[in-house]
Amino acid sequence: MDKIAVTGGKPLNGTIPVSGSKNACLPLMAASLLTDQVFSLTNVPDLADIGTLSALLRSLGATVTHDAQNSRLDLHFARISSPLAHYDIVRKMRASILVLGPMLARDGAGTVSLPGGCAIGARPVDLHLKGLQAMGATLDLRDGYVHATVPRSVNGGRLRGVSFRFPFVSVGATENLMMAATLAKGTTRLVNAAQEPEIVDLARCLSGMGAHIEGAGTSTIEIEGVDALSGTEHKVIADRIELGSFMIAPAITGGDVTLANADMSLVGALAEALDAADVSISDTPDGIRVVRKNGTIKPVSIITEPFPGYATDLQAQMMALMTLADGISTIEERIFENRFMHVPELARMGAKIDINGGVATVTGVDSLRGAPVMATDLRASISLVLAGLAAEGETVVSRVYHLDRGYERVEEKLRACGAQIERIQGAD
Ligand code: EPZ
Repeated sequence: MDKIAVTGGKPLNGTIPVSGSKNACLPLMAASLLTDQVFSLTNVPDLADIGTLSALLRSLGATVTHDAQNSRLDLHFARISSPLAHYDIVRKMRASILVLGPMLARDGAGTVSLPGGCAIGARPVDLHLKGLQAMGATLDLRDGYVHATVPRSVNGGRLRGVSFRFPFVSVGATENLMMAATLAKGTTRLVNAAQEPEIVDLARCLSGMGAHIEGAGTSTIEIEGVDALSGTEHKVIADRIELGSFMIAPAITGGDVTLANADMSLVGALAEALDAADVSISDTPDGIRVVRKNGTIKPVSIITEPFPGYATDLQAQMMALMTLADGISTIEERIFENRFMHVPELARMGAKIDINGGVATVTGVDSLRGAPVMATDLRASISLVLAGLAAEGETVVSRVYHLDRGYERVEEKLRACGAQIERIQGAD
C-alpha cells in the first residue's frame, strides 16, 4: 500500500488545475443505463472510484472506453445484458446503488447488492428504496441483495410518476429517483430534494438526452417521464470538494495559490468560512485566488449541512486549518454520525481537539509537528496532507488508497506549487 510523505513548513505559490467532479461523474455514469445510444462524458477525473463504477457498468453489459489522457469516457449500453450489481463491486463503492433506478426505469428489473455501512457512518439506502417502491417497484430483500422489479400490473412494467417527499435531504436518493423518473409514465415531483451542484449537473445531462426536468437546484424537482432517451456528450462540472480542499492549502501554509478551471458559484459556504478566518478569496480571470490576509488564522465555527450549507466533505479540511487558528473553533458534523476519525490523527501531530457527540472543539496551537498518521477515509486523508504541509518536519500518511478514490494527481498538483510531497510506492 502506498504512503505519502510530506515535509511541511513551506508556503505554497502557483496555480492548481481543478479536475472534473467525482461526485458528479458517478451518477452521470449511471445515467448511461437509460439509453441504448452512445453516452460520452468529458472532464472525467482519473480516479479509483471511476474505475470501480466502470467495472460495474461493464459487468452489467456496457462497452466502456476510458481515454484518461483526454479525460473522456464513452459508455454504451446497447442493452443491459446482466442486470445484477454484484457485492464484490458494490462493497467497494456505495454509489453503486445509483444503477438501480436507471435499470428499473429502462427494463423494469434490477438486482443490486445492499451496500454495507462504511467508515463515516451506517449510510442506509432506505430512501432510495422507498422512492422506487412509491414509483411502483416491488422489492425483495434477500441474501444481501435487493431484487427489484416493476410488475406488469404497473403500466405494463414501467415505473409510474409520483409525488415523493424526502423526510431529510439525500444527494444519492435524489439522483437515483431523478434518473428513474425520466422514463416513468407520468410526472414525478421530488419534494425536499437535494440542491447540490452535482444534482444540477445531472439534470443538465439528462435534459441533453431528452428528459423533461424542472427545478433542479431547488428543493422541488419535477420530471415528466418520456418514452426514450438519446445518447449525449456532456462535460462534467469542476470538483467543488477538490477545489475547496486546495483552497484550504494556501490558507494553512501561507502563500498565494490560484485554482484554475473553477468558479465562485461552487464555493459559497466555504468562501464565507475562509473569509471569516481572514483568508482572502478573489475571482480572477485565471481562476480563484486564495491568499491569507495576514499572518494569523482566525477561529471560525461551522456546521455541516446539505447544500448550500457548509459541505460535510470539507469538514475535515477546515478542521485541519482550525488546529492552527488563533483561538477556539467549533465544528459540528450533522450529516454523518462518525466523521471525526481524522481527530486522533491530527492529535498525533499536536492538535488540541475535544469531541462531544457531533461537535468538535478545536483549540488552536502555534504549530503542528510531523508524525506518522493513518488515512481513514477520503476527506480525512486530504486533511492529514494539509496538516502535514503546515507542520514542522515530516508527516507520513499511510493508507492513501482512500485519497486515490477522490484526488487526481494530488502530489503533482501540490508539488507544482512548491510543496515537498512524495509518494512512497508499495510501502507497508
Ligand atoms: C453523497 O453521498 C456524496 N457521495 C458524499 O461524498 C457526501 O458526503 C454526501 O453526499 C453528503 O453531501 C457521492 O456523491 C458519490 P446522502 P450520499 O444520501 O448520496 C443518510 C465523499 O467524500 N441517508 O446525501 O450517500 C446518510 O446516512 C463522499 O466524496 C439515509 O439515512 O449521501 C447520511 O447521514 C462521502 N438513507 C445522510 O442521509 C438513505 O437512503 C446524507 O446522505 C440515504 C441517505
